[in-house]
Amino acid sequence: MQPYSSRRARLAGQLQPGVLILPTSPEFARNADTGYPYRFDSSFFYLTGFQEPEAVLAIVIGDTPQSLLYCRDKNEEREIWDGYRYGPTKASETFGFDAAASIGELDSQIIELLKNQPRVYFPLGMDASWDARLTGWLNTVRAQSRAGFTAPDEVVDPRGAIAEMRLFKDEHELDVLRQSGRINVEAHKRAMRFATPGTAEYAVEAELLHEYYRNGSRFPAYSSIVASGPNACVLHYIENNRTIRDGDLILIDAGCELGGYASDITRTFPASGKFSGPQKAVYELVLAAHVAAQAEAAPGKPWNNMHDAAVKVLAQGLIDLKLLTGSLDQVLETETYRQFYMHRTGHWLGLDVHDAGAYKLQGEWRTLETGMVFTIEPGLYIRPAANVPAEFEHIGIRIEDDVAITANGNEVLSAGCPRTVAEIEGWIAEARA
Ligand code: GLY
Ligand code: MN
Ligand code: MN
Repeated sequence: MQPYSSRRARLAGQLQPGVLILPTSPEFARNADTGYPYRFDSSFFYLTGFQEPEAVLAIVIGDTPQSLLYCRDKNEEREIWDGYRYGPTKASETFGFDAAASIGELDSQIIELLKNQPRVYFPLGMDASWDARLTGWLNTVRAQSRAGFTAPDEVVDPRGAIAEMRLFKDEHELDVLRQSGRINVEAHKRAMRFATPGTAEYAVEAELLHEYYRNGSRFPAYSSIVASGPNACVLHYIENNRTIRDGDLILIDAGCELGGYASDITRTFPASGKFSGPQKAVYELVLAAHVAAQAEAAPGKPWNNMHDAAVKVLAQGLIDLKLLTGSLDQVLETETYRQFYMHRTGHWLGLDVHDAGAYKLQGEWRTLETGMVFTIEPGLYIRPAANVPAEFEHIGIRIEDDVAITANGNEVLSAGCPRTVAEIEGWIAEARA
């Protein structure tokens, strides 16, 4: 039994009467008549399971909610060139809609649906052309006021309500996330094997993609970061065109997308297979921060405990390594650690790599609950500066795992990816033998 119709029913059950309108993502041209690989909108997919472009979900919310899909028609010519299209009839049956119609009918049908409704739920600001289209529909209904029709007074953004649902993963979603994590673990292990001195970063990226593709993940969840040497201190480095040198650390932040669900792992390891003294010292510190953060990953704990725990360990370690001066309290108070740790310790993970869901409720960090999935990803990035001894210059380290909250604590979805110094050195020695 597919979960989509029950998700729509649950959403409708939380909303006041009105009409919800949710378009999927547009297609984007890469050049001339060639497109980027198509990716559906995550919330649209969550509520429909439908993966084709040019589709819109409408839910008429009232005593008996009605779910409608607008999608492309069957088209023999286009199906010969581009592949299968469900068409409204088959899509309606397959994905459990109350009705479906051609996307060509959208304007005329939505105008009828909006008449005399108190409100419309619509993701204003998601796409300017859809905003304009909604305005047009509302104005068309308003123009019929003398015929006795009223237009909705309120436009309400449904994304908060959908995000709240998406934040809690069901068993099927957890299974897909586990599988996405398992594939990603193998990809990172493969990358460690091939990332030898003299290899280009992009050649290592190819090894990640090789593992993703052959396991059924056709797309990375985001642009892979393969950052060797000083590039590891560029947080979103994606050029991946440097040649790896002996003595480099390599930071790989990469994830695959499987069935729409992302994994997001970072590992940092030595090209040579052996950490140098300073590299090891910084690595052990980031790992200690990770362990401290993970100890806070349990039901009932506030979300930000993980960040606070990681920051405390990193700050003390930076003082011990003489990269920062002052007491721990002073460093935390003045946030001088931000010279080396300038991002947060994690984010929700799901259909989007930075997944939907509020981090605070009524101004307070929310507490962790079973079914929430997120990353833990402390790091340190040591750029040359007056207070940085030469031996630490250009060291960039991040360790990132994917974690689900369970009834008793947490489950690491990226388990099995070498993480301690001994595991990394051991795996590289074994894999390259
Ligand atoms: N790769 C994106 C992130 O770690 O948040
Ligand atoms: Mn991440
Ligand atoms: Mn990442």
